[in-house]
Amino acid sequence: MARVLALAFACGAVASAGAGDAASTCKSLPPIGSTRTRPSVNGGSHLFIGGALTPWHGPVIEVTSPVYDEATASRAAIGTLARMDDESSARAAKAAAAAWDDGQGEWPRASLRARATALRAYLDALVERRAEIVEVLTWEIAKTVADAEAEFDRTMVFAREVLDRAVEGDAPFKTWTTVGGVNAVVRRGPVGVSLLLAPFNYPINEMYAMMIPALVMGNPVIVKLPAIGALAHILTIDALRATLPDGVVNFVSGGGRETLPAVMRSGVVDLLGFIGGSKGADALITQHPRPHRLRVFSQLEGNNLGVVFPDADLEATAAAIIKGALSYNGQRCTAIKLVVAHRSVADALVAKLAAGIDAMGRGAPWDANVSITPLPEPKKPAYLAELIADALDRGATIANARGGDTEGQLFHPALLYPVTAAMRVFGEEQFGPVVPVAVYDDVSEVIDIVKHSWNGQQCALFATDAAPTVPLVDALSSVVGRINVNMPCARGPDVLPFSGRRSSAMGTMSTTAVLREFSVETVVATPAGKEGERFGADLASSSVFLDGL
Ligand code: G3H
Repeated sequence: MARVLALAFACGAVASAGAGDAASTCKSLPPIGSTRTRPSVNGGSHLFIGGALTPWHGPVIEVTSPVYDEATASRAAIGTLARMDDESSARAAKAAAAAWDDGQGEWPRASLRARATALRAYLDALVERRAEIVEVLTWEIAKTVADAEAEFDRTMVFAREVLDRAVEGDAPFKTWTTVGGVNAVVRRGPVGVSLLLAPFNYPINEMYAMMIPALVMGNPVIVKLPAIGALAHILTIDALRATLPDGVVNFVSGGGRETLPAVMRSGVVDLLGFIGGSKGADALITQHPRPHRLRVFSQLEGNNLGVVFPDADLEATAAAIIKGALSYNGQRCTAIKLVVAHRSVADALVAKLAAGIDAMGRGAPWDANVSITPLPEPKKPAYLAELIADALDRGATIANARGGDTEGQLFHPALLYPVTAAMRVFGEEQFGPVVPVAVYDDVSEVIDIVKHSWNGQQCALFATDAAPTVPLVDALSSVVGRINVNMPCARGPDVLPFSGRRSSAMGTMSTTAVLREFSVETVVATPAGKEGERFGADLASSSVFLDGL
């Protein structure tokens, strides 16, 4: 059970952000702490490269939790990671390149069925570690136990579904087909060495959303462990070593700036799978010596709108917006980042939102009925305080109790109203528990926001009658990847395509689409007619590549 530390803690975040008097009403209280037994994951003594665990004698990163240790009154230490450098990360790239062997390595040349079988064995082994992985996730990224369990379980379902889809396949020309004078069959093969990066908010799920399809399609991978959320991956090394060939999965840990330039500049990376911020993606892409050879799959930022029409059911809408904006403290790319409410209902909506937010439980991830937990990114509370201070300076108010108060890394959700385009929070992706509400009079104003946004991920509309929403739905259909009606924005169910436009995504994630993202089509063609068919049949009976998958 978490307890609040009896520790003096200065109220500095908002005041130092240069806010006026209103902003300094936010309080800094003693941090959220716990006496729960901490995990201790030793990822700093070895490197996992080329299938081996080799001793690491270089610098080590101490990994801490946003939940404080009551005994020391500081962030709880929960493990270590190797602070790799350019030389050691280049070794990881070399090992992946060796496993690839210009397309002739054991893994890329294995049958798709054999790779799927090995990966199923890996997933089975991983399930044995579920409880440890969930516990580490709760400590390192402060996900509630239910959310951490959901992340693990959802990942297993996604991964198994991807493997099933890969083996069963249903692509056009899966069987020999005569078309335009040729007899042809199409198979998908690997792209090459894949460098994968995933963010802290889904460190396992989003990495595996790329890693499992990349692997099953035959691509050796370099997994750059996230700066926050890496420890769960350390717990997977035994299972990886037991089930997959050497060098097929290689880990890089430490700062991206210190490790990844060497990997990218080596030129061995054929595919970059990147889930995170667009600046990081751009930096990596431009480091590749031959960018035209780099396949990019990315899921980036979102600044999703929640648009409330005058006839919306305000009770249900408020509940959906709270879920959409504040699940996992708003640290989801799909979170509703800006609510735009029709003037006729804005006050009433804000009152309902305030009541709903005030009722949300706050505390450590293991506490009962808690949904707001400490933020893992050390600088995030100060950044959110800056956004709030800017909004208050420009005329917004905090419309709920305790909004913007902090208890160490725990940031009490702030409902800002009324927000205008002049405020930073209108266009910046807060990625945290700040819910801005702006007002509109005519739907053309919302279309204008959509038109000029950098975002292209999703939108949520709340209305009873469909007719008034049509112009906005039509405008959004060439801007975002998903339009949600009377429900929050979300990625799932994972069989649906998750995509985006503009700075939000390059490529589509779903259990079938990712297989295409991480593979290349190869056509085998013979002249139409009996002789060609005989040759094709003989090939198919002996080729691993053509063995029916
Ligand atoms: O952070 C971005 C995630 O892809 C959001 O996924 O909607 O399932 O939480 P989610």
